[in-house]
Amino acid sequence: MGSKAAIFATAVLAVLFAAPALAQTSSPPAPAPMSLAPTPAPAPAPHYVDLAELLSVAGPFHTFLNYLEKTNVIETFQSQANNTKVGITIFVPKDSAFAALKKSTFSNLTSDQLKTLLLYHAFPMFYSLAEFKNLSSLNPVNTFAGSPYTLNLTDDMGSIYVQSMWSRPKIASSVYATKPVAIYALNKVLLPMQLFSKEPPLAPAPAPAPESGASDAPSPAAGKAGGLTGGKGDSTSAAHNVGAVSFTNSLLLAAAGCLMLLW
Ligand SMILES: *[C@@H]1O[C@H](CO)[C@@H](O)[C@H](O)[C@H]1NC(C)=O
Ligand SMILES: *[C@@H]1O[C@H](CO)[C@@H](O)[C@H](O)[C@H]1NC(C)=O
Ligand SMILES: *[C@@H]1O[C@H](CO)[C@@H](O)[C@H](O)[C@H]1NC(C)=O
Ligand SMILES: *[C@@H]1O[C@H](CO)[C@@H](O)[C@H](O)[C@H]1NC(C)=O
Repeated sequence: MGSKAAIFATAVLAVLFAAPALAQTSSPPAPAPMSLAPTPAPAPAPHYVDLAELLSVAGPFHTFLNYLEKTNVIETFQSQANNTKVGITIFVPKDSAFAALKKSTFSNLTSDQLKTLLLYHAFPMFYSLAEFKNLSSLNPVNTFAGSPYTLNLTDDMGSIYVQSMWSRPKIASSVYATKPVAIYALNKVLLPMQLFSKEPPLAPAPAPAPESGASDAPSPAAGKAGGLTGGKGDSTSAAHNVGAVSFTNSLLLAAAGCLMLLW
């Protein structure tokens, strides 16, 4: 009996030693954890969000991402996103939004103008969907493109509209909203009057109706949860890590149990 207990104790010890090692391999060392987040001990999730990677898998946002990369604005956005104290809010038009306009609308722009257009699609600050209600009282709101380039925000029965000179898309969905990065999808490109003196013409064969109604409705629950607490992403990725570790632990415990039985 004594030796059985000893074997079992050894097995349990093995599990206890294995756990931290697993935890280390499953979570990369955290860069300067934010002081305000009461992160659970085992897996502090990294706050680094790779925008290019995120945009390439969400969406489809390929047109916008291609423009960001071509102009290097992706670097500007990424370095702002890396600034976890302030963060960034990006309005990302879907591929269909670009396809709805004549190609020359964008190819006619100089590279500086194209850069400005992209910067116009962001605020150099993180805003959750819930915060837009307050932000709308500050209209017009400055964008990342600087002072003449402003947007007006309106909150209409829970739907948030983003008003530029030639378009007024509703936020179609919240793609990502965990401080410091907020990404919201739009069905239209934002078109400031400083770049477009008249309304840009539609493409000859317009893409299927951009406003597709109910399926595009923002999910306020997701936005609120992700935005205000700033903990959504953290807790989910932490949960993944914890899940992986405890699953392995269960396996080891099961093995220990078998040893006991065999004995
Ligand atoms: C953002 O942070 C990541 C990870 O720390 C780093 O690899 C990357 O170079 C940074 N990018 C910019 C543009 O600051
Ligand atoms: C782009 O420039 C060409 C040549 O100047 C012009 O004919 C065309 O209308 C412009 N397209 C748009 C969308 O402004
Ligand atoms: C909005 O502003 C009110 C006061 O003007 C404040 O009490 C509330 O917390 C703010 N909400 C957000 C989401 O910032
Ligand atoms: C935003 O609203 C202000 C007045 O509140 C108006 O002067 C301005 O033209 C609007 N800007 C846009 C882009 O709609």
